[in-house]
Amino acid sequence: MTDRHTRERLVTAEVEASFADAPPRLREVMSSLVRHLHAFAGEVRLTEEEWQRGIDFLTRAGHITTATRQEFILLSDVLGLSMLTIGINAPEDEKATESTVFGPFFVDDAPRIPQGGDIAQGAKGAPCHVSGTVRNTSGAAVPGARIDVWEADEDGFYDVQYEGDRRAGRGWLTVNDDGSYHFWSVLPSPYPIPHDGPVGELLEAAHRSPMRPAHLHFRVTAPGYATLVTHIFVSGDPHLSSDAVFGVKDSLIVDATEHPAGRAPDGSDRDRPYYSMTFDIVLAQEIRP
Ligand code: BEZ
Ligand code: FE
Repeated sequence: MTDRHTRERLVTAEVEASFADAPPRLREVMSSLVRHLHAFAGEVRLTEEEWQRGIDFLTRAGHITTATRQEFILLSDVLGLSMLTIGINAPEDEKATESTVFGPFFVDDAPRIPQGGDIAQGAKGAPCHVSGTVRNTSGAAVPGARIDVWEADEDGFYDVQYEGDRRAGRGWLTVNDDGSYHFWSVLPSPYPIPHDGPVGELLEAAHRSPMRPAHLHFRVTAPGYATLVTHIFVSGDPHLSSDAVFGVKDSLIVDATEHPAGRAPDGSDRDRPYYSMTFDIVLAQEIRP
């Protein structure tokens, strides 16, 4: 009779060999996945009950997943796999603005706003002026670049989390000829990732917080440049060192400066106190295969 250790090695080798005739990249990915998955089960001496709980977890993740609720991406996010994959695929040029997670709250039909317009559109929160430039890694302006922005309101909810189809706290604009942009929004607030499903149960069981630090999402696109998906995080947020999805990068933390009511930097008159944030964006060239 074969001993336990040999039996375990044999099954791994047999499964790996079953992918021998697969196309090269599929074979590479599946062989490595099988090796690491088997090594994981061997290392923790996985019990049959734990295996069953894992299957049950994935089944429930599947059942809760809809067109607007993607529990598997959430699982990838809280396991750090999303940020690892983003890092693996990041542009080589260190001058380029760093990327972070996309998140589930982007929608395609956000309104276009003019330069200096307001994306709040009824989203609650303290007014916040956001300005900066979009340049390439040589320092040249990228006029016409499209900036999509989206954020939660002061209660920590995106528009799509409310009843109805109101669009608020999101919009897109194009960059001026000199590379500058500016718009009004609300001061970002911290909020929990959706945690009423299996991923939330996992966080709770592990005594992990579902909170994300306050942030404003950016997606910046321009022909010839790699699409940038990122956020600005508000400095001083208590959740910066414990983001549930590991998305924080120091280079993306920005000060939100508080101002009294009065004349704002864009010349508009503000009847209540407001904040301002500056975010200069650097796009990497698109890499053509
Ligand atoms: C977000 O920032 O919108 C987000 C990112 C990952 C998971 C859940 C939400
Ligand atoms: Fe978000």
